[in-house]
Amino acid sequence: MKKGMIQATDAFERITHWLLAISCLVLCITGLGMMFHSFNFVGTMMGGLKSLKYVHNFTALIFIVALYMAVRMWWKEAGVFVLPEDLDWIKAAGGYLWHVDKVPEVGKYNPGQKAFFLVVALCGSLMVVTGLIMWAPLIFPVWLVRWMYPLHALGFVAIFSFFFVHLYLGTIGSPGSAPAMFSGWVTRAWLLKQHPKWLKEMEEHGTLVVYGEEKESIEHGH
Ligand code: HEM
Repeated sequence: MKKGMIQATDAFERITHWLLAISCLVLCITGLGMMFHSFNFVGTMMGGLKSLKYVHNFTALIFIVALYMAVRMWWKEAGVFVLPEDLDWIKAAGGYLWHVDKVPEVGKYNPGQKAFFLVVALCGSLMVVTGLIMWAPLIFPVWLVRWMYPLHALGFVAIFSFFFVHLYLGTIGSPGSAPAMFSGWVTRAWLLKQHPKWLKEMEEHGTLVVYGEEKESIEHGH
């Protein structure tokens, strides 16, 4: 770790993110294995279709816990659009799609990230409700159970397509982002580029955690 790096996420935030991400991806892959013949190899790898379904259904229980933790932790920062600044950012597409001279300053999350959070939160909840009803079909009316299948598939399409945008922008599309979810420490240059308003807020509130600085102040007797 280099001196001067800034802490962007704490351990709880990263554990929640990866619990959600890994359970979500296992659900997507095992779900594809159940849905399409051409993905049957996923079931074969897990010892057959019956075990595939067990893996899917029990991973869903982990996803429920992770989704609850993520929504509780992020809804205030990622679930609420702030006007007019978020609208200005959307009009400029965050400077990602065409040349923009001055992109509106972003706080902890930009409107694109907020949109992804909302898709995960809302479609994720839809997946939980529809999935649980399909898990216990005999205690619900047949017409209701039948509706759950297309809704479950629709929720999957929304989450899975957004996931690829998220994967790209969390890694090569925006260099310096991935460490926020791996080590938790990012550079000041990345924060200035991606979340300048958040950096200012942390500086003003005195909540900025800089690697090596605390030690230095202790050494200097502050
Ligand atoms: C497996 C590859 C993934 C990578 C490399 C990745 C990376 C990241 C990074 C770097 C951030 C922080 C971005 C920032 O602060 O600017 C983040 C945030 C987030 N991730 Fe992921 N992620 C992955 C998978 C997922 C999955 C599958 C989900 C959903 C089920 C997910 C949900 C979120 C949410 C809700 C946030 C906070 C809001 C946002 O940035 O949109 N991530 N991720």
